[in-house]
Amino acid sequence: MQRTMLLFVLSICVVLSVSAAGDAETEAEASADAGTVNIYSHRHYEVDRQLYAEFSEETGIEVNVVRAGADELIERLEREGDNTPADLIITVDAGRLNRARERNLLQPVSSPRLAQQVPDNLRDEEGYWYGLTSRARVLVYHPERVNADELSTYEALAEPRWDGRIAVRSSSNIYNISLLSSLVAHHGSEAAEEWAAGVVSNLARQPQGNDRDQIKAVAAGVADIAIVNTYYVGLLGASSDEAEQEVAEQVEIFFPNQSGRGAHINVSGAGVTRHAPNTENAVRLLEFLTSAPAQREFAAANYEYPVNPEVEPAERVASWGNFEADQLNLGSLGEYADEAVAIFDDVGWR
Ligand code: FE2
Repeated sequence: MQRTMLLFVLSICVVLSVSAAGDAETEAEASADAGTVNIYSHRHYEVDRQLYAEFSEETGIEVNVVRAGADELIERLEREGDNTPADLIITVDAGRLNRARERNLLQPVSSPRLAQQVPDNLRDEEGYWYGLTSRARVLVYHPERVNADELSTYEALAEPRWDGRIAVRSSSNIYNISLLSSLVAHHGSEAAEEWAAGVVSNLARQPQGNDRDQIKAVAAGVADIAIVNTYYVGLLGASSDEAEQEVAEQVEIFFPNQSGRGAHINVSGAGVTRHAPNTENAVRLLEFLTSAPAQREFAAANYEYPVNPEVEPAERVASWGNFEADQLNLGSLGEYADEAVAIFDDVGWR
């Protein structure tokens, strides 16, 4: 009887630990063996799963993954403190990794392989996190309604000529928060606020949907330009849905600020948690994920840019051409995130 009761209590604990992360998907119960690495991940791609399986095969280290939104995972790490089973947190934005660092949830790690495989501007200066893939936040436009000559910079999107012509998702989205943070970093908050107000007054419709929906809005004639991450154009182009392929065929990509500071980029990346039970395994996994073979798989599957300079982007991505990336340290995106959120609120970018 007591044993039944104990099992009952244990099963409640398991349910609680899963529901505490909202719709988190626990693929295996996290544990802290020498032969294990436990990941909290905001990435939701099949290629990640494949790479973890390959890592396990190569090293014998078992990989456990809990998937949920980045904010949930950060909160969970905070709540668990030194009892956390998590070794590595993976997010799709440097801003979130910086937030985790600021809250003292990460530890610095380094290795000669990581130093070689991840360029300086795509990792934390002190090794608190490393980029796994990178992406640019670019413009897509409809070539029948916009001439590429008319496009230049993010800044120019605030000009009156774009009145009623721009589609972009909501300001709660971290990609937009990071973009505005970069404008605060470059121009100061006053100029960034003027810019955001200008863009709001040029919107074709109230912000809604995700990046894919903005590209579809341009194809459908709802807007003439959209601000989106590069890989969504690749994903639509490679979609099994013909209508989505057509959407991708109708739009062109423009990399802004090419005669100035370069296009805004970001990374999806990973940091080893401060209380990781399996630090060494976590570093090995980071080394594996940034190695040339794994980077090739990332690049082919998702149309993101590899961080490892040895690896070329996928053919579809290469066809968009080379571009200059903003060299702003991605660490500073987190620094200005709160300010960016306040600006979005002030200008009514919902
Ligand atoms: Fe995304």
